[in-house]
Amino acid sequence: MKTKKVLLFTLFLQLFMIGTRAQNTSSFTFPALPYSYDALEPYIDKATMEFHYDKHFRAYYNNFIKAAETNSLNGKSMEEIFANMSKYPIQVRNFGGGYYNHAFFWEIMSPNGGEPSAILLKAINESFGSYDAFVKEFEKAANTLFGSGWAWLAVDDTGKLFVAQLPNQDNPLMDIAPKHGKPILALDVWEHAYYLKYQNKRADYVTNFWKVVNWVKVSEFYQKTLK
Ligand SMILES: [Fe+2]
Repeated sequence: MKTKKVLLFTLFLQLFMIGTRAQNTSSFTFPALPYSYDALEPYIDKATMEFHYDKHFRAYYNNFIKAAETNSLNGKSMEEIFANMSKYPIQVRNFGGGYYNHAFFWEIMSPNGGEPSAILLKAINESFGSYDAFVKEFEKAANTLFGSGWAWLAVDDTGKLFVAQLPNQDNPLMDIAPKHGKPILALDVWEHAYYLKYQNKRADYVTNFWKVVNWVKVSEFYQKTLK
């Protein structure tokens, strides 16, 4: 009886070790949320953040690491994968996009996001005419997107900023995107991102997003595109 228990325990331990090892062989990490679940209250509520980060984001990540394993993507950067998106199966596009986009989204929000840097503000003015014109265009992209997707602010190959409205988990780094660019700001307009608090009032969610944008981080991302 004792031997049976020891054997069962050993088997359990081996299965646990295999599970842990399988998780750890991926080169893609699951980033921590940079703030507490309730940090963006009242604009983004705690319950939404818990579901969004713990369930949706985790599911994208888990499915992506499986797809990464199947398609031998370990060791590659997400930028490299997205630049060759058209060569990979749809799972890589959907789950890889879901993984990258959400990790990016958590970073560009903060309860104390500050203001755009002078150099970013200058680029916004040059690209859109004014900050208000940029906000209007970005909000239009977020509010008029039919179904699920994201609104993006990205930098094109000439250094100019542009707003993009992309479906599902696509992003401007993907070779399949209508216009290619490096993202510096994004807004998730899937219903799971706002429905618990805002229900059908997506426009209110979009308006309140500006209160939690981490402009310090967005400015950093812009700065990196200049190199
Ligand atoms: Fe989402």
